Amino acid sequence: MAEVFSLRVLLLGGTHRRASSSSSSRNSLKPPLASVSASRKGPHTHSHKTQKLNLEVSPHRAVSAVRLMRIEFGGAFADLLNEKGKGSGDNEMAYVERTLGFCTRDLDDRDLRLVTDIVGGTIRWRRYLDHLISSLFHDEKAFRRMEPLLLQILRIGSYEIVKLNMPAYAVVDENARLAKVALRPGAGNMVNAILRKLVLLKETDSLPVPKLEGDDRAQARALAILHSHPVWMVRRWNKYLGEEEAVKLMEWNNSDPSYSLRANSGKGISRADLVAKLDSLKVPYELSLHMSDFVRIKTGLQNVIQAGLLKEGLCSVQDESAGLVVSVVDPQPDEQIIDCCAAPGGKTLYMASRLHGQGMISAIDINKGRLRILKETAKLHQVDGVVTTISADLRIFSETNTVKYDKVLLDVPCSGLGVLSKRADLRWNRKLEDMEELKNLQDELFDAASLLVKPGGVLVYSTCSIDPEENEDRVAAFLLRHPEFHIDPVDRYVSTDFVTAEGFYFSHPVKHSLDGAFAARLVRA
Ligand SMILES: C[S@@+](CC[C@H](N)C(=O)[O-])C[C@H]1O[C@@H](n2cnc3c(N)ncnc32)[C@H](O)[C@@H]1O
Repeated sequence: MAEVFSLRVLLLGGTHRRASSSSSSRNSLKPPLASVSASRKGPHTHSHKTQKLNLEVSPHRAVSAVRLMRIEFGGAFADLLNEKGKGSGDNEMAYVERTLGFCTRDLDDRDLRLVTDIVGGTIRWRRYLDHLISSLFHDEKAFRRMEPLLLQILRIGSYEIVKLNMPAYAVVDENARLAKVALRPGAGNMVNAILRKLVLLKETDSLPVPKLEGDDRAQARALAILHSHPVWMVRRWNKYLGEEEAVKLMEWNNSDPSYSLRANSGKGISRADLVAKLDSLKVPYELSLHMSDFVRIKTGLQNVIQAGLLKEGLCSVQDESAGLVVSVVDPQPDEQIIDCCAAPGGKTLYMASRLHGQGMISAIDINKGRLRILKETAKLHQVDGVVTTISADLRIFSETNTVKYDKVLLDVPCSGLGVLSKRADLRWNRKLEDMEELKNLQDELFDAASLLVKPGGVLVYSTCSIDPEENEDRVAAFLLRHPEFHIDPVDRYVSTDFVTAEGFYFSHPVKHSLDGAFAARLVRA
């Protein structure tokens, strides 16, 4: 216990020193590393653990740099909801220590918010930031050969200067110090030099701007840098939406996302109950215009998570665009429903809450881990009485299964091009080649799901994509293969504002300020 106490004292000391560090430590070449011996008593830990606690480096920058490394190279997601779960807290500091060779004091709430802003923003603006940074290198090869951690630190500094307008010289000093401590003094000097040049360019309004000239490809490349997206996405959206709409979409993708919360009526929580909780947490909200059990929040999700509202199952984070897909299915008590690609269960659970304890939803998914999450959440939300899980490949399941269902929801794996504002890293992970593969899988799953629909039953095909090749084109191709189905226009289920000329549901990020989503409601003869 005494050792735990001394660790706390040192951590508090770290907080105190940091407050004055930006001005005082410019010349300190050797950062103070405090060796802390923390003996953990208990059944699982017997060893002494020596942590090198660095009191000079700003914790949010160290954590941001490491998180960015993990997202770019370690397959971690840039997902706000994971912040207090895997990859955070103690775990996160372990990653920091392993990557940088030291740990920092724990993050307070302000640090956590900064990490969220910096990690999300740095990922979104990566292409643009790299353009700025590389323009400050004399040698393109030197930029390309730069070690990954150094590049992350430069990106963080550039983002803080150019997009967050943080006090420039503190940003330069703090990032240079991080590079110096985590890498070596020369790396710190380089960060110092590059970021100082960037500050000067910004102050003289002469940041390098790519010119919109040349052929389509060259112009797309310039737009891709300016709005920080992959070139293939810009070309695709130029083709489908026109340049003006494509730019608006990229601006939306680069804006801070808002989140929606669904009051969990399965557990007897009404929207009024949820609103009362948000009031008590001082989290500002707006009532959803489209769904009676949803509210929108722009800030404060971290508070909602920390207050345990999700853990206790009082509400779920679910975009209204996904809730509207459930409205298109229109689940009714006593119906037999199958959700063909169900995990992690956002739509299954919402459908289940609308059955009021009568009927059954079979939730199939190929991914056992995600299906386990669905099962546990159904229990937490007290809708497990109407949810049963099936771990299977839909294509195999539908060949042998003989039961037919009133309603079949097929929420296919897709590019996720409608959710790029929330999934900051997704734009860099998706490749043009993925689209062909995804479309083939979508067709196979569509055919498989159709076998489960009883005569007169409903098949809803949905995506969180805005790409016509994953949406309208897949439905058109399906109807050619399956003349026994016809389109049931969705205007009876969602507001006409979301209904396309062909009778499909479509939420457009820019038009509706929601995630992009699509659903077609088809009825079997
Ligand atoms: C878009 S996600 C579904 C999201 C879910 N409907 C929700 O609202 O939370 C697509 C899901 O399809 C599953 N999947 C992919 N291929 C599958 C297959 N052949 N059979 C069953 N599930 C599959 C993935 O594991 C993934 O969980």
